[in-house]
Amino acid sequence: MPTVKEILQTMDYGPAPEADNHVTAWLASHEKGFKHFIGGSFVASKGKDTFEVVNPARDTLLAKVAAGTAEDVDAAVKAARKAFPAWSALPGHERARYLYAIARHIQKRERFLSVLETLDNGKPIRESRDIDIPLVARHFYHHAGWAELVETEFAGYGPVGVCGQIIPWNFPLLMLAWKIAPALAAGNTVVLKPAEFTPLTALAFAEICREAGLPDGVVNIVTGDGATGAALVAHPDVDKIAFTGSTEVGRLIRQATAGSGKKLSLELGGKSPFIVYEDADLDGAVEGVVDAIWFNQGQVCCAGSRLLIQEGIAERFLGKLRRRMETLRVGDPLDKSVDMGAIVAPVQLQRIQALVKKGEEEGGTLWQADCALPAKGNFFPPSIFIDVEPSSTVSEVEIFGPVAVAMTFRTPDEAVQLANHTRYGLAASIWSENINRALDTAARMKAGVVWVNSTNLFDAAAGFGGYRESGFGREGGREGLYEYLKPDWEKSLPAAEDSKAAALGVAPAEAPAVTGLPSIDRTAKLFVGGKQARPDSGYSYTVKSTAGATLGQAGLGNRKDIRNAVEAATKAGGWGAATAHNRAQVLYYIAENLSARAAEFEQRLVSYGHSAKAAKAEVEKAVRRIFYYAAQADKYDGRVHSTRSRNVTLAMNEPFGVVGILCPDEAPLLGFVSLVLPAIAMGNRVVVVPSPAFPLAATDFYQILETSDVPAGVINIVTGARDELAKTLAEHDDVDALWYHGSKSGAASAEKASAGNLKATWTNQGRAIDWLRDAQAQGADYLRHATQVKNIWVPYGE
Ligand code: NAI
Repeated sequence: MPTVKEILQTMDYGPAPEADNHVTAWLASHEKGFKHFIGGSFVASKGKDTFEVVNPARDTLLAKVAAGTAEDVDAAVKAARKAFPAWSALPGHERARYLYAIARHIQKRERFLSVLETLDNGKPIRESRDIDIPLVARHFYHHAGWAELVETEFAGYGPVGVCGQIIPWNFPLLMLAWKIAPALAAGNTVVLKPAEFTPLTALAFAEICREAGLPDGVVNIVTGDGATGAALVAHPDVDKIAFTGSTEVGRLIRQATAGSGKKLSLELGGKSPFIVYEDADLDGAVEGVVDAIWFNQGQVCCAGSRLLIQEGIAERFLGKLRRRMETLRVGDPLDKSVDMGAIVAPVQLQRIQALVKKGEEEGGTLWQADCALPAKGNFFPPSIFIDVEPSSTVSEVEIFGPVAVAMTFRTPDEAVQLANHTRYGLAASIWSENINRALDTAARMKAGVVWVNSTNLFDAAAGFGGYRESGFGREGGREGLYEYLKPDWEKSLPAAEDSKAAALGVAPAEAPAVTGLPSIDRTAKLFVGGKQARPDSGYSYTVKSTAGATLGQAGLGNRKDIRNAVEAATKAGGWGAATAHNRAQVLYYIAENLSARAAEFEQRLVSYGHSAKAAKAEVEKAVRRIFYYAAQADKYDGRVHSTRSRNVTLAMNEPFGVVGILCPDEAPLLGFVSLVLPAIAMGNRVVVVPSPAFPLAATDFYQILETSDVPAGVINIVTGARDELAKTLAEHDDVDALWYHGSKSGAASAEKASAGNLKATWTNQGRAIDWLRDAQAQGADYLRHATQVKNIWVPYGE
């Protein structure tokens, strides 16, 4: 024991361990192993396998847990299905009371859950006690509120059904809360699979569900590894999959659910920039780095892992940061004075070590805090690579550990360029005392969450989720609730097989017949980058009326044409930056010009086989619909969320960028208009493939575009075989979202092909929309699919 004098001289921290006796006793009471939680009871697995759950800080066994089989998953899905009718039929107020009761129980058990989380995951008790578990309770309170309000605030929407939820190990109970609270609030039932490294707080949560009297089967928890997760994804009676985890597994899930009609939300990896301008409060920014990359040992999907520092202050800033690094304490996470705990598992530690080795081989200079690491357990010191190339492995790959990379920039433009130089797009952190600069940079970030002069802030009232390969969908806030709701009109659509052309009495279209002959005359051209273009193939196909008469030729677009169109659309980025007022003006102009030429378009539709009445109705509706979206262009706006700390949190609706649109056959003009107009109203540029059966209504449309001041590249039209072109668009990395209306199999193959860059897809699953009915074919759902929400957190106060 050191003397008091010695302690005062060294000023070393003494140990301040949190007591773990309650948790140890609870674990001892489950010595024989944990079971699944199915239909309100703890149920033994149908299989014999179990796996061991280990304390990563001490390398000791905590528990044995059942390895869920496909049969276990099936039993859980059946229990959830059985519970669904009664749970979804409850008045929202009653569901609210259950969620509120859960929140109260969590608060009562806060200390227990914090210790259990720390033992299981290795994160410092300070974090589980002050951040994770309070946020879990907050999430259930907030969503108790949504349960109360869902019927009035989301009129016209209902629950999706049975939700399969798969979560990672970095915030075990918090991720559970993010998944379960909104699902239950909206009236769904769930089967949740926790991560294999950290299933224990989920099992404690199952006990809380029982204590709160939650009806049996509303929440089911099946433990297991990736195979259990895959069985849940594959189960035919699951209506929605919500996943948080690695981009690789996200991609597999996108492929596995393609064509199944399952709703999907993916929250995946990141490599988020942390930008420090020379006018930043440098000491504040240094603390920011600590929270950005050493919080939870850097095992955070939105970790600020790429430090971008303005050249003039780089040396000073890194000097301060280095000194701060030396003060960080790494050690037993149950110790209340520890800043960094253990890495979750040996395999993760090895992954970090291997990437750090690679970084050194690539010539990066590694700084590591000179701290004593415990002899046992999986520990890694706070680390930074300086002088790295933006294209080096450590700059590009998610390390998912306490390792940042640092590089410098000169101008704000360069900062933005470097920040967006990643396939991910989860978060960004911007440090500057100049509000104009900070907000301008925030607006230019390709990321779902932006923190100004702050980092890693979370709240149930704000949406969280990514752009690009960080996934799609949001968790939290009003925007997050939509992930667990389905519009009533979608439920009323006819089944896929017999639905074609239901609306207008038009016979199903045939696939285009390729003539094989190059055609010179009267071939409707493609429209790319504001110009008419011949198809690259030189081929065209014959367009016929529904009665079989030849009406003309349309270009047979191919891969190259799509590439050119995407390039033109990419270049037209100014459209998204234009003011909504300006876009509205252009849309009104389109409506006016179509109205002036209504007779010509009616004639076209009549030639195809529409009755005069049907043709008139379709054109009239198209004009009205354009007016509608012109009106919406500057009205479908965002919100300011009421997050807990002193922040304005701006939830902005931003365009995706380039959207690929595959049009239906049922209403050749109206289908085209109903999809293209909401997309461009929100600032997207589109590459659109008109109905292959009757593309001429759309190819005529370029004349309207030319006379309506639509900038070149905003709307690009490529005619040809829909499913083939859909696949090309789905595979294209510069296409950010894809809307598909065609056959069921075409939808499936487009969804599957979209897994490459994980673009957001919206398909009709082969079911036809009645394009004349506004309730189905127009409205906020279209605008929501045309946008992604970016949450910008702006703190205020001195
Ligand atoms: P993972 O993505 O394999 O695991 C996440 C969850 O998915 C776990 O519950 C796992 O059992 C489940 N899973 C695995 N394969 C599955 C499949 N085929 N179908 C359905 N579910 C499946 O992540 P892992 O292996 O634990 O970590 C590897 C890397 O992933 C990390 O180093 C990190 O880069 C990244 N990661 C990202 C997270 C995030 O929050 N974005 C969280 C965890 C990991």
